[in-house]
Amino acid sequence: MDEGGSRIIRRVSLRKRNRPSLGSVCAAPAAAELKPGNVEDEEMVAGSRRRKTVGVQPVEYDSEEDMFGDYDSFTENSFLAQVDDLEQKYMQLPEHREHDTDLAIEDLCSESIKDSKLNITTVDNFTALKTDEPTKNQCGQEDVAIEPGTDLLYDVPSSQVLYFENLQNSSNDWGNQFTKEKDWNSSSHQTVNEELSHSCIEQPQQNDQSSSEVRTSSDTTRRKSLKDHLKSTMTGNAKAQTPVFSKTKQLKETLLSEEINVAKKTLESSSDDRGPFYSLPSKVRDLYVQFKGIEKLYEWQHTCLTLNSVQERKNLIYSLPTSGGKTLVAEILMLQELLCRRKDVLMILPYVAIVQEKISGLSTFGMELGFFVEEYAGSKGRFPPVKRREKKSLYIATIEKGHSLVNSLIETERISNLGLVVVDELHMIGAGSRGAVLEMTLAKILYTNKTTQIIGMSATLNNVEDLQEFLQAEYYTNQFRPVELKEYLKINDEIHEVDSKAENGITFSRLLNYKYSDTLKKMDPDRLVALVTEVIPNYSCLVFCPTKKNCENVAEMICKFLSKEYLKHREKEKCEVIKNLKNIGGGNLCPVLKRTIPFGVAYHHSGLTSDERKLLEEAYSTGVLCLFTCTSTLAAGVNLPARRVILRAPYVAKEFLKRNQYKQMIGRAGRAGIDTVGESILILQEKDKQQVLELINSPLENCYSHLVQEFTKGIQTLFLSLIGLKIATNLSDIYHFMSGTFLGVQQKILLKEKSLWEITVESLSYLTEKGLLQKDTIRKAEKEVEYNFHITKLGRASFKGMIDLAYCGILYRDLKKGLEGLVLESLLHLIYLITPYDMVFLYDPDWMIYFRQFSQLSPAEQKVAALVGVSESFIGKKASGQAIKKKVDKDIVNRLYLSFILNTLLKETNIWSVSEKYNMPRGYIQNLLTGAASFSSCVLHFCEELEEFWVYRALLVELTKKLTYCVKAELIPLMEVTGVLEGRAKQLYNAGYKSLMHLANANPEVLIKTVDHLSRRQAKQIVSSAKMLLLEKAEALQEEVEELLRLPSDFPDTVASPIEKA
Ligand SMILES: Nc1ncnc2c1ncn2[C@@H]1O[C@H](COP(=O)(O)OP(=O)(O)OP(=O)(O)O)[C@@H](O)[C@H]1O
Ligand SMILES: [Mg+2]
Repeated sequence: MDEGGSRIIRRVSLRKRNRPSLGSVCAAPAAAELKPGNVEDEEMVAGSRRRKTVGVQPVEYDSEEDMFGDYDSFTENSFLAQVDDLEQKYMQLPEHREHDTDLAIEDLCSESIKDSKLNITTVDNFTALKTDEPTKNQCGQEDVAIEPGTDLLYDVPSSQVLYFENLQNSSNDWGNQFTKEKDWNSSSHQTVNEELSHSCIEQPQQNDQSSSEVRTSSDTTRRKSLKDHLKSTMTGNAKAQTPVFSKTKQLKETLLSEEINVAKKTLESSSDDRGPFYSLPSKVRDLYVQFKGIEKLYEWQHTCLTLNSVQERKNLIYSLPTSGGKTLVAEILMLQELLCRRKDVLMILPYVAIVQEKISGLSTFGMELGFFVEEYAGSKGRFPPVKRREKKSLYIATIEKGHSLVNSLIETERISNLGLVVVDELHMIGAGSRGAVLEMTLAKILYTNKTTQIIGMSATLNNVEDLQEFLQAEYYTNQFRPVELKEYLKINDEIHEVDSKAENGITFSRLLNYKYSDTLKKMDPDRLVALVTEVIPNYSCLVFCPTKKNCENVAEMICKFLSKEYLKHREKEKCEVIKNLKNIGGGNLCPVLKRTIPFGVAYHHSGLTSDERKLLEEAYSTGVLCLFTCTSTLAAGVNLPARRVILRAPYVAKEFLKRNQYKQMIGRAGRAGIDTVGESILILQEKDKQQVLELINSPLENCYSHLVQEFTKGIQTLFLSLIGLKIATNLSDIYHFMSGTFLGVQQKILLKEKSLWEITVESLSYLTEKGLLQKDTIRKAEKEVEYNFHITKLGRASFKGMIDLAYCGILYRDLKKGLEGLVLESLLHLIYLITPYDMVFLYDPDWMIYFRQFSQLSPAEQKVAALVGVSESFIGKKASGQAIKKKVDKDIVNRLYLSFILNTLLKETNIWSVSEKYNMPRGYIQNLLTGAASFSSCVLHFCEELEEFWVYRALLVELTKKLTYCVKAELIPLMEVTGVLEGRAKQLYNAGYKSLMHLANANPEVLIKTVDHLSRRQAKQIVSSAKMLLLEKAEALQEEVEELLRLPSDFPDTVASPIEKA
């Protein structure tokens, strides 16, 4: 294994923070006064908000979108535009449009390919490639067999440990039941023993006892009867559900508990002694072998885990190429924290889909090892998190939800429970408003709790020193990549290999071997067909395209020229995919996918619904589909590797590719354990050659703080929360905090016109003038003044609701106006109030559709339109193209249009029909829905802080729920389980799994037989996620009961009865 590139760089910086003297505190404000009026005015002007937020993702909607933006045109890039036009034109030719796949193939294969004696060498070679399965399912192994035994134990959730004895007594008559339900299961029984052992180690019962010392006898009786009640219910449940496991198993579990105990002590006492597996129980190693197919750590992983700095729990940044195996190191450190140090852990990941993937992957570990895995993404997550007495929690969160979680832990003074924070894709700190949020989160942790360890990883970091200084972290880097990645460029028909030793960075490799007819040359000027057929269908291939439309066109174009042989490859399974797609679309199927899937080809971009994406991804990862044409969504999205990655052009939309983007995209090629080699081919035209050569030879881009650039979403939001959470409330403390941020580190580079001090003062003045903060002047000595800030009610509401400060004023006014005459006969008015302001500019109305929908409104709905100030005649004039003299607020008109869409969606609950009605891609509709659900919950929190809006609270709770699960009510409990989307929920429901309890008790083997197109791996993941959720809920309830029955620590009797104590 190549460990040659290994190096450890230690550069822990001792930052000197120049605390400003109070003299300077007094001197600055006047000069730094800001004119807030400008922004206020802007808000009122039609369309002005567009300018402020263009290209910025809304903070609250954890992104599922493309990594590099959401563009859909590249008109300025003329060559690509021509090609795209050509492809579109070709696709629109009637004879091609009308055909179903088979016909299309017949046409093209017989006419173009056969008649023209078109010979794509690799297509001919297809049959020779047929043998291997492209991927190996490493997770398909069975659980450890459960031997029937005489000495029975029960698989009770840990919350039921107290009743274990009773359960054991009533065990004798369970045997038969258990043998039927073996699969519930080898996982959760560990919990029992683990819990048991912990109760031995830490004696949680004693805690109870000590607190119960002060309880009155009636307390005890009350508690007892409730306990009895719980006990008998749970015993009943357990009888009905739980299996047995053998003595051998029991012994194994006892061993596990012992190992955890030893590991814990080891870590507490000395850092040199190691437990069986990096201070962890050997069970962890077994789990990695069993579930991830990882037998042995890479050398660098071992080195990294045994670094002194890591053992001393110093903050750490590590950087390795894509696919280097970074996750495993982080996971082992997380497990150490959860199991040995018994602290909670937060893992921050960039996208909802990745969070869900991780939850599914780690739930089994949680069940087996006895910790909770909690999801904080999209609409999921509780603030503050449930307090757990026994087991620790691993919170897996998106950037936005991670920030809210940290805020709530600081607010409830529980931040010290957070032992470790892991940030994957740390370079995201330089990515717009999301980067600013990540920076705030980390800066707050650093400032409030010195004992929380921070670990960041990335494959694409350049200016690590700045990040090190910010995080006060050590740095480890290594060039290891388990599968070699060969990079190529294609210019005309020449393929060149990227070679850092060559003069201009490339060496000639080969000429593309193909024979194209003239027609095909025209249709496929980039020779994509030749390139992809060198690998598919036995190996997978990703083709990155600059735009969404281009993805669809390329997919269709390629299929037109593939031989019929491709149809035969995994034909049945492809039919299943189509059937399932149709199923989740309620009978609808995208015509492009209908034509391409039979060839094993599909497009993948944010225009698909998340259900469709998930289904296609599953088919791709099992090799049923072998080619994705995709946008950059896949560059950092779910783990979908490919033997070959093709970049169709060096552009993302109109922008020339950046080095980081390029690295992330090509990094998808050749993944460990799946491919033996990986290769990337960047297709370029002569005109771009120079720029591409610079691209491949240049260093990665630096990342920079976005706190100032993002203003209302950056520094403003930060200050409001610093003061709201009382992290820092006076000017000098706030400035001190700012010097410790990433911005503080980079101030010399980033702040040219104003100093950090000036910016701090200006921002505080701005917030004060907006009525979000109040300034108190405290006279300390004769000439010494200190400025203290506290948050106003409006400020607190905005901060609690995580409202972008650019919109808090208008939101307040809209809600206030709503109080004057809220129309509740229809949902439209409420929907209008929670339609996200920053989505308004993303979708321009189709005036004809707008008009049609308007004329179908009920009288109550018409009243809503009138109340917000949009008239039917205005829309009518727009639809007929008439000039309109009257000035109308475009934002309001557009916002109402989006409310119409959401209203229709809630009525019909069918994304497809709404997409058709409004002529908008279904993926967009779904984004709007997710955004609205998120904003609705923000508005709810906003209203909770303002007494005058009490009436909205109950209404918004319900509306948020409706928007979050815009599906038939019966599917909601199933969709709570990570990874179960609407389509899957429908299937499960129809198969008789109607509740969380049903899923948690399901046998994966039975599931795969009764539910179409569900792999064993997925079935197991669903069941373990469901178990985890059920366990979490049960424990949360149990804790609530405990809390209710616990005597308050300040109960007067305890202080006043010394005699009793004696
Ligand atoms: N020691 C190991 N032995 C075998 N496979 C491993 C080992 N460590 C990690 N892997 C596998 O390698 C693959 C890539 O690992 P991982 O996802 O951690 O890469 P990464 O460094 O995070 O890459 P990226 O920057 O692309 O996210 C995974 O499938 C993982 O299971
Ligand atoms: Mg990774």
